Amino acid sequence: MKRIVTLVSGRGSNMQAIHAACVQQRWPAQVVAVVSNRPGAGALAYAEQHGLASAVVDHQAYASRDAFDDALAEVIDGFQPDLLVLAGFMRILGAPFVRRYEGRMLNIHPSLLPAFPGLHTHRRALEAGCKAVGATVHFVTPELDHGPIVLQSVVPVRPGDDEHRLAERVLTTEHGIYPLAVRWFVEGKLQVEGGLVRQTDGASQVLL
Ligand code: GAR
Repeated sequence: MKRIVTLVSGRGSNMQAIHAACVQQRWPAQVVAVVSNRPGAGALAYAEQHGLASAVVDHQAYASRDAFDDALAEVIDGFQPDLLVLAGFMRILGAPFVRRYEGRMLNIHPSLLPAFPGLHTHRRALEAGCKAVGATVHFVTPELDHGPIVLQSVVPVRPGDDEHRLAERVLTTEHGIYPLAVRWFVEGKLQVEGGLVRQTDGASQVLL
């Protein structure tokens, strides 16, 4: 059984989608903990309701990024994860932290990377006149919102869309692609070579 630790900062709808799929589809894995950098995160209530272990490492309690990253790593390592899943985790992680978990840490970002790393992705996509937007699951590397791409969803932009409507439609697709990507990881179906990911069964790595 692969051990999955999720890192969250907010409501955790992606974490919930992954946990539900893991249980319902009987993956060879279990979500062993939900770790938040925000004490009031909605994801923590979900963890409690579903009997999942949880922990809070409040970034505000640490004087530096390195001190926060070290405390976070200590808590995470206590759960002995095979895979770290960043699910709406809104802190930038330092390079030593990322290297510690490289190859076993996934993130989801609400844009078609490498376009629009960082914040306000949907607003920026609308301002750029994009005709399609989407979400990306990728392995985490030290550069923010970069790293080998596992799976993407593509969502057409409709006339009259604003950033909230786009965010909602993209989020729905996130709940499809993130569980699928995590499932592929725990089933050993992902190979990374030269910065590119191959799904060894040959499944499509784009959701339209
Ligand atoms: C999701 O849209 C996720 O893609 C985004 O935050 C939201 C979290 O929602 N992540 C990032 O912007 C990371 N750069 P959730 O808490 O309901 O999963």
